[in-house]
Amino acid sequence: MTAFPVLTDGVIELRVLEASDAECLIAGQDDDVIRLLTGTRFSLAEAVEWIESVRECWTEGRHRRNFGIWASDKLIGGIDAHTGWTMVQGIEQGDANIAFWLAPRGRGFGYAPRAVRLVCQYLGGLEVARAIIRTRCGNDAANRVAERAGCTRLDAAGDELQRWSFLLAQPSRGAPEA
Ligand SMILES: CC(C)(COP(=O)(O)OP(=O)(O)OC[C@H]1O[C@@H](n2cnc3c(N)ncnc32)[C@H](O)[C@@H]1OP(=O)(O)O)[C@@H](O)C(=O)NCCC(=O)NCCS
Repeated sequence: MTAFPVLTDGVIELRVLEASDAECLIAGQDDDVIRLLTGTRFSLAEAVEWIESVRECWTEGRHRRNFGIWASDKLIGGIDAHTGWTMVQGIEQGDANIAFWLAPRGRGFGYAPRAVRLVCQYLGGLEVARAIIRTRCGNDAANRVAERAGCTRLDAAGDELQRWSFLLAQPSRGAPEA
């Protein structure tokens, strides 16, 4: 049986979602999360199916590593690292694209930069050389999260796609693409 990683900095915890988290996941995704990130509001069945698919990615060692974000034992968001560089615009071989969201009740506490830093530490041990955060023009909250997490801006402010990079601890290009 696969041991799923649990990452913590003592304030938040990143864990792999379970089917029983589906209801809480849906409740946390407001219109902004749907508009800026997921593109869809899940039904309960769809959320369960989606959680099963991300768990499969973990067990089969595929390109996607997705975590839920917990604070004070409540699921308050999610963060995703995607190393399928041919599938994601604006990333290269050896990169991981990082995307994140917080439920409204989890915003304003600095949890998102913490989650980015935890995932970056984890990826540094996986032969990923660089984390990339892509934000849409005008998503000031996401840009600020990238900045607070210690990322460097790659694109000019005002470009449609804003990319931020974070060089990881053990640079070694060529993360396998599953
Ligand atoms: C992006 C998101 C996770 C940020 O949540 P948050 O609660 O603001 O995040 P944090 O509490 O960790 O705060 C991060 C920083 O952003 C700042 N911030 C929040 N909203 C902001 C805004 N509209 N404009 C400028 N800065 C903003 C906060 O003040 C904080 O900076 P500080 O520590 O210097 O005060 C949240 O807004 C969200 O889920 N948005 C929808 C999904 C999304 O856009 N995801 C990003 C795709 S990559």
